[in-house]
Amino acid sequence: MKHLLSAGALNREQAIAILDTTVQMELVNSRDIKKLPTLRGKTVVNLFFEDSTRTRTSFEVAAKRLSADVINFTAKGSSVSKGESLKDTAQTLQAMGADGVIIRHPGSGAAHTLAESGWIQAAIVNAGDGTHEHPTQALLDAYTLRQKLRANKLGSDLAGVKVAIVGDIAHSRVARSNLLLLNTLGAEVYLIAPATLLPGALAAQAAGFYYSLDQAIAEQDFDAIMMLRVQSERMTASFFPSEREYARIWGLNGDRLAKLPSDTLIMHPGPMNRGLEIDAKAADSVNSVILAQVANGVSVRMAVLYHLLAGGSEIE
Ligand code: NCD
Repeated sequence: MKHLLSAGALNREQAIAILDTTVQMELVNSRDIKKLPTLRGKTVVNLFFEDSTRTRTSFEVAAKRLSADVINFTAKGSSVSKGESLKDTAQTLQAMGADGVIIRHPGSGAAHTLAESGWIQAAIVNAGDGTHEHPTQALLDAYTLRQKLRANKLGSDLAGVKVAIVGDIAHSRVARSNLLLLNTLGAEVYLIAPATLLPGALAAQAAGFYYSLDQAIAEQDFDAIMMLRVQSERMTASFFPSEREYARIWGLNGDRLAKLPSDTLIMHPGPMNRGLEIDAKAADSVNSVILAQVANGVSVRMAVLYHLLAGGSEIE
């Protein structure tokens, strides 16, 4: 594996190998000295053309815990805001000797462009490209499911696990990557969204889909329910009548929580719009694993960097 561009490009063995390595990284992260020498002398660049809190910082922490040198390159404050192209930026990073580039970009396909361009030799990790994909988010979500449901048995997939993905699916790279990876790992994915936000091509790849959250909750026993952020910044039209209406029909609130099986996990990739797709009762309930997702993000990204950049060296 040279790059990580799409969750769909991972086969079952590769995905499970990353999840298994994550178990070891989690052990490192529970130690007093959370550091491995694995990537000493390597340079990892965080190339972010879009805002991010969790993803950027967790990649930075992950690379540092593996002893890499980390350069944070955000579009604001760089020559990109003066009109430098992706090509010039990539060639500059190549000249600086970057071994790995983590890229987040508003354009779907940007990470693929960089990987296939020949402008740069580094391993490329897609940290979110437009509405297309966000493979490390899918890996950390799969890891969280395995951790909470299967006690992290090494080699284990997610066969038979029932996951609901709810909300603004049309604009969500998290939903796309999760659907692909969860299918590969044998889970059953249900997509639940207003008709305006549920692309038919994705519904066709799911185990099932619903236009009503209440009906889905009444008919299925979900092991996990993943709420998506309403991505207003990507909406060019009016997809639902009002925010109040969306919260009333599509929001995960205390009433709906009470109708779920008592052990259904509640997930959200963050950042949350509290009061819109999820309310405090759900987000802060004992079933919520939202902060575990964040913590697992560091371990999963360490595992990904290890697989791409460590060249088979031992984890000590
Ligand atoms: C997601 C993203 O940026 O795609 N957030 C994240 O990476 N944690 C989801 C979102 O922005 O809603």
